Amino acid sequence: MSMITLKPLAEHVGAEVVGVDLGHVTDADVDVLRRGLADYGVLFARDQSLTPEQHIAFAKRWGAIDINNYFPIDGEYPEIAEVKKSETQQTNIGGAWHTDHSYDQIPAMGSILLARETPPSGGDTLFASMTAAFDALSEGMKATLRTMRAVHSADHIYAADGIYAQTDQADLLRGHDLRTRAVHPVVIKHPETGREILYVNPAFTLYFDGWTREESLPLLQYLYQIPQNEAFQCRLQWAPGSIAIWDNRSTWHYAMNDYHGHRRLMHRITLSGCELFGA
Ligand code: SIN
Repeated sequence: MSMITLKPLAEHVGAEVVGVDLGHVTDADVDVLRRGLADYGVLFARDQSLTPEQHIAFAKRWGAIDINNYFPIDGEYPEIAEVKKSETQQTNIGGAWHTDHSYDQIPAMGSILLARETPPSGGDTLFASMTAAFDALSEGMKATLRTMRAVHSADHIYAADGIYAQTDQADLLRGHDLRTRAVHPVVIKHPETGREILYVNPAFTLYFDGWTREESLPLLQYLYQIPQNEAFQCRLQWAPGSIAIWDNRSTWHYAMNDYHGHRRLMHRITLSGCELFGA
């Protein structure tokens, strides 16, 4: 039996995990966390002083690990990507709404992000429920979107002439020569719950399959407004030892960049996923 309690953080997304040491989880704990992740989209636990080995071991309880191709890697532990911003940098990683790895044909299931160094204030992460965003659409719009697919890529972000190349993160990032392209249904079914999810995001979705980008942008921009409604979001405030586990299929996230002059270092392990299917 597990002693874990899950306390909802907001109406549609997020729960705080209480009563667990994630460095020593039982099978029963993992079952509770798996169900909780499917139900809440993101789980958050405080005061978890995991070593890198424990972080990796905990991630392996969920399945295989995807090594991120772009972020700096902790030299000793290739499974752990560093999401960092120094006192002198202006640009952060993940400072726009996105879902990780939608540019892969088999996108990552989720991530486990562990705070190592946090600024005295700021540096929160926002999460949005893409299940709630889909539910909020009209039946007519839902029916149309169910017939559509969208093309995703990361090249415009990470390539040698991409967005990060113009910033002070350029020297830290890798993978400038990689080329990515994936096509996913615009409405996916969650592989575990079967719930329908709006699966497009402002960072990586380029256009609807068979449409031009110019034709796609007005509808994409309309859809992007919906999860930006705070009613569909939760906000995580980090301290060293805080950890979040999120589901990349059912949520977007946004790392706030409001702590210039201070360091923030997070260790991220990305969890492998499966192909995504529509209704
Ligand atoms: C990310 O997008 O994975 C980074 C999130 C964060 O640093 O809060």
